[in-house]
Amino acid sequence: MNSLAGRHIVLAVSGGIAAYKAVDVARTLVDAGAHVAPIMTEDAHRFIGPVTLSALSSEKVHTSLWDDDSAIPHTKLAQRTDIVVVAPATARVISAYATGSSEDLLTATLIATRAPVVLCPAMHTEMWEHPAVQYNIATLRRRGVVIVEPEYGRLAGGDVGQGRLASTEAIVSAVEQVLQTASDLAGVKVVVTAGGTREPIDAVRVIANRSSGKQGHAIAIEASRRGAEVTLITTADMAVPASINVVRVETAADMHEAVSQVTSSADVIIMAAAVADFRPVPIAIGKWKKRDGAPQVILEPTVDILADIAKSKRPSQVLVGFAAETDDVIANAQVKLLSKNLDLLVANDVSAPGVGFQHDTNAVTLLTPATAPRQVALAGKHEIARAVLDSVAEIRSRITSSRS
Ligand code: CTP
Repeated sequence: MNSLAGRHIVLAVSGGIAAYKAVDVARTLVDAGAHVAPIMTEDAHRFIGPVTLSALSSEKVHTSLWDDDSAIPHTKLAQRTDIVVVAPATARVISAYATGSSEDLLTATLIATRAPVVLCPAMHTEMWEHPAVQYNIATLRRRGVVIVEPEYGRLAGGDVGQGRLASTEAIVSAVEQVLQTASDLAGVKVVVTAGGTREPIDAVRVIANRSSGKQGHAIAIEASRRGAEVTLITTADMAVPASINVVRVETAADMHEAVSQVTSSADVIIMAAAVADFRPVPIAIGKWKKRDGAPQVILEPTVDILADIAKSKRPSQVLVGFAAETDDVIANAQVKLLSKNLDLLVANDVSAPGVGFQHDTNAVTLLTPATAPRQVALAGKHEIARAVLDSVAEIRSRITSSRS
C-alpha cells in the first residue's frame, strides 16, 4: 500500500547547497500522491528560487511568519500536516530546533507541530562531526525525531566526506516508514527495561555492568512515536519524551519489583536491560573500611525476571528478551528463546566492533519460534529499535489473526 497517497507533508527547506535536491524530494512525494506544502527559510532563497519549488509542490512556498495569507501560518501548517520533513537541515536549524527557539517560519512550525518530524541534515563534514551538532542531533533523537543521516561523498567546494544530503530514495523511504508505522502500536501497553543494574557491595560500592541503556531507551522512544503507551523501567539517567512513563531503578530486585507491578496490564514486555545474574551478599551496613582488609565478596543469584514473568504470560502477551553473547551467538540465543518461552529474542555479538554495550550502534539477529533468524546489519540504535518494533508489530498481528 502507498502510505504517501493523500497525506499532508510539510517539506521545509533550509539554506544549504543541497537545497536544490529538495525540489526532487517534493516532486517524488507529489508523484506518489502526497499533498506537499513547502516552507523555505530566507537563506534557502539564496540557493533555489521559490517558483521552482512552488511549481513542483502542491501549494506555493511559505516563507515568512508575517507575509502569509494566514495570520498564524506556523500553527496552521503545523496542525494540518501528517509529517514535517526538513531537507536539507542546516546546523542552525538543528540547533534552533534542539533548543526550542522559533526564529522564523520553519523553526516555529517545528516547535508548533505534534506531527512526526524527519530531519535530513546536510553540511560539511567538520560541521557534522562537531560535538555541538552531534549533541543537538542526540537531543532530537531522544525526543523521537527521525534523523536521515547524511551520506559520504562529494561536498561543496570539491571536498569529500560525510555530510551530503541523503538520496531522495532514502528520504522518501524514511517518510513512508514513519507514516506507515505512525500508529501501528496505538494504545498498546509496552513495558521496556533498560540499562545495567547496580548491585551494592556496601554503602558506597557496587557491582555494575557495561550497559548504557541506549538501546532500551531508543526502543521506548520509537514505541511511543508509534502510539504505544510506554512504561520505561531504567537504571540510565537519560532524558526521554514526556509521553513516556519513566520508573528509575537501581538493582535487579528493584527492577523485578517495578516489572511485577505492570506485568499483568502489559501487552508487550521488552527486557532490554542487562540485569545482574548475581548480587553480592552485603559485607557491611555502612562503608567497608580499608583498614579491615580486602573483603570476601560472596555472590548470590538474583531472580531471572524474564523467566519469572514468562510463567504467568497470557497468550496475547508478547515477551521480548535480549541475549548479549560472545560465542555461538545464534545457538545460545535459540536456547534462550525456547527456555524462556519468548516470542522474540534480540541477539547480539557484543565482542564485534561497534556492537552492544555503550556504543551508539548495534547489529542484531532477531529470532522467533515461527520464523527464520533475521539479521539486522550494523546501524544506529534507533534503526535497530525500529526493526525490533517492526517484528513486535508483526508478531501481534499474527496473534490477532490466529485468534479471529
Ligand atoms: N534477564 C532477566 N533477569 C535476569 C537476567 C537476565 O530478566 N536476572 C533477561 C535480560 O533482560 C535479557 C535476557 O534475560 O532480556 C537474557 O539475558 P542474558 O544475561 O543474556 O542471559 P541469561 O539468561 O542471564 O544467561 P547467561 O548470562 O548465562 O548468558
